[in-house]
Amino acid sequence: MCGIVGYIGDKQALPIVIKGLERLEYRGYDSAGILIYDQRKKEVYFEKQPGRIKNLTRVIDPDTPGTLGIGHTRWATHGQVNKANAHPHYDCQKKIFVVHNGIIENFREIKSSLIQRGHKFSSETDTEVFPHLLEELIKEGLSYEQAIIQSLKKIRGSFAFLIFNKDYPDMIVAARLSSPLILGLGDKEFILASDQTAIGLITNKIVYLNDGDIVFVNKNKYEIKSFLSEDTKNYEGIIDFSSAETEKGRFQNYMIKEIFDEPKAVEDTLRGRLLIEEGDVKLGGLDRVASRLKEIDNILITGCGTAFYAAKLAEYFFEEYAQISTKAEIASELRYKMPVVSEKTLLISVSQSGETADTLAVIKNFKTKGILTIGITNVVGSSIARLVDAGIYSHAGPELAVASTKAFLAQTVDLILLMIYLARQRKINVGEAKEILTELDQIHKKIQETIVDNDQKADSLAEKYLFAKDFLYIGRKYNFPIALEGSLKLKEISYVHAEGLASGEIKHGPIALIEEGFPTIIIAPQDSVYEKTISNLEEIKARKGKIIVITTKGNKSLEKLADDVIYIPETLELLSPLLSIVPLHLFAYYFAKKLGRDVDRPRNLAKSVTVE
Ligand code: AGP
Repeated sequence: MCGIVGYIGDKQALPIVIKGLERLEYRGYDSAGILIYDQRKKEVYFEKQPGRIKNLTRVIDPDTPGTLGIGHTRWATHGQVNKANAHPHYDCQKKIFVVHNGIIENFREIKSSLIQRGHKFSSETDTEVFPHLLEELIKEGLSYEQAIIQSLKKIRGSFAFLIFNKDYPDMIVAARLSSPLILGLGDKEFILASDQTAIGLITNKIVYLNDGDIVFVNKNKYEIKSFLSEDTKNYEGIIDFSSAETEKGRFQNYMIKEIFDEPKAVEDTLRGRLLIEEGDVKLGGLDRVASRLKEIDNILITGCGTAFYAAKLAEYFFEEYAQISTKAEIASELRYKMPVVSEKTLLISVSQSGETADTLAVIKNFKTKGILTIGITNVVGSSIARLVDAGIYSHAGPELAVASTKAFLAQTVDLILLMIYLARQRKINVGEAKEILTELDQIHKKIQETIVDNDQKADSLAEKYLFAKDFLYIGRKYNFPIALEGSLKLKEISYVHAEGLASGEIKHGPIALIEEGFPTIIIAPQDSVYEKTISNLEEIKARKGKIIVITTKGNKSLEKLADDVIYIPETLELLSPLLSIVPLHLFAYYFAKKLGRDVDRPRNLAKSVTVE
C-alpha cells in the first residue's frame, strides 16, 4: 500500500522525509517521490522515480535546503509504474502539490470535466485530479480552505492526502477518509505519516485522525476541522514501541526476525491476561460489552488472508469449547453476502494492520445493523481498533515483513483467550479451562523449541525441494487452516504455487495431481484425527508422491512412510496449530530466499491492503 510522510519544523526536511519513507517501505510500493520547499529561495524542489527509494535519493542533492517536505511511496492502483505516475502530482501552474494514499473512484468524470475547462494532465492516475480540482475551485473564487472542503466532498473513494500550496508556504494540509494517517507532535515540529513506524523518527506523541478530518499544520501549531461532521473529537496518544523492535538487529531481514520473535509475540500477548487458578482470563477491553456478550448466540469471524486463517481456526474452537454457532467468512465475500443476523450476533474482525479495506467495510456494514463488533488488531489506534465496539490487542510488536508470521500466532492466541472468556460465561467447566490456560502459559517455550529443532531442517528441506513448481498442503480439523496459511506463506514470498486443502478432500479430485515426485506437506500431529490423515498419506504414497509430514515428537512410525519428517512438541490438540505453523513459516522463508526473492517485500504485495 502507498506510504505518505510529511514534515514541517526547524530541521532540514529531506533526510527526515526520506527516512520516513524508508520506514514505510514494508507497506509495499513500486515508485517514490518527494517535494521540499526552500523558504529562503521561495522555491519548490520535487523529484520522483519508479522503483526503490534509492532510485530517488540517487538523483537528489542531499543538501537540498528546506524545512517543509512531503513524500510518497506509490503502490500502483491506476496507471503504469513510471515517473509520470509517481507522486507528488500538481496543478497546471505547479503551485499545488499532492501525495495520496487511497483511490478516487469517480476520477474519470472529474478529469473529463476539468479537461473541458482547459486543464492539462500529465499522468494516468486518479490522484492527479485533486490538485487540478483545487486549482479550479480557487479560480472560481473559493478560499483555499473552502476549495479543499468542496474538493473533498466532490470525490468518492478513500484518501489520505498531504497538500502543499506555494501560496501558503508555511503550511501542510492533510485530510483522511478510510485511509490511515497519523499526526506526530514534536517540539515546534510536526510529522504526518501513514503509520507510526515513520512517526517514531520525530516523536512518540500522536494525534489519531478521524475520517473526515482536515489538518492545517504549520511549525507552531495544528488545527483540525472536519468536512463530515461538526462534533468530531481527536485523541492524543503515546506510541509505546521501542525503535529497537523496528530494526532488524542480528537478522538478515524482518521476516526471519519476526519468525524468531513468535515465542515473544505469544508471551507478550498472554501477559497479564491468564487467571489460571480461576480457569479464566482478564480482557479489560471487553468490560464495556460484557453483558451483551453473555446474550450472543451466533458468531461471525472475518478477516483477509492470514487473518482469515486465524478466523477459520477459531471457528473450530469457538464451537467445540464455547458451544456457540460460529462461521468464519472472508471479509471481501462477507461484504456481499446476506448472512442471517440478529441482535444476538457477534462480529469479530481479525486484522494485523487494523487498516484492511475489506475488513473495515464489513465492520461499518454490520455496525449500521446494530451488530456488536469486536476487533483483534496488532496496531494501537488503527482504524479498526477505533471503529469496533470493543477489542483485544495482539502484542506482537510491529510486524514489518509483508508476510504475516508472528501476528498470526498472536491473533490465534487472542481468539483462544476470547473463546475462554465466552466459554466461562457459558458451559465450559473450570477444569478444562484450567488445562488449556496452563498449557497456553507455557506454549511459548514449545514454540521456541520448535524453532530451534526445525530452523536448520527447514533450510535443508527448502534446498531438497527447490525443484518443485507446485505443492499441496493438507491438514484436518485444527490443522486445515494451518494448511491454508502454510500454502499462502510459500506462494506469496516464493511466487511458486501452493494449495492448502482439507486432507479429507484430497480424494475428491486433487489426488489427480499426485504423480512421482509431486510434493505434499501433510500436517499430522497425533490428535483425534491423526489416523484419518495418515490414510491420506498412504493414498499419496501409493501414487509415488513425495511426502513431508509434520508430526508429534516421539512418533517414529512415519519415518518409513514419509520422505521427510518434521517433529513438533506434544501439546493439546487445540494448541497444536501454534506449533505446526512454525516449520511452515520457516520452510517458506528459506525456499523463497534460495530462489533469490525479496522476502520482506514480495512483488505486487502490500503489507496492508487499504484499497478494495
Ligand atoms: C499475509 O502474509 C498477507 N500479507 C496478507 O494475506 C494479510 O494477512 C492480509 O492482507 C490481511 O492483512 P491484515 O491482517 O493487516 O488485515
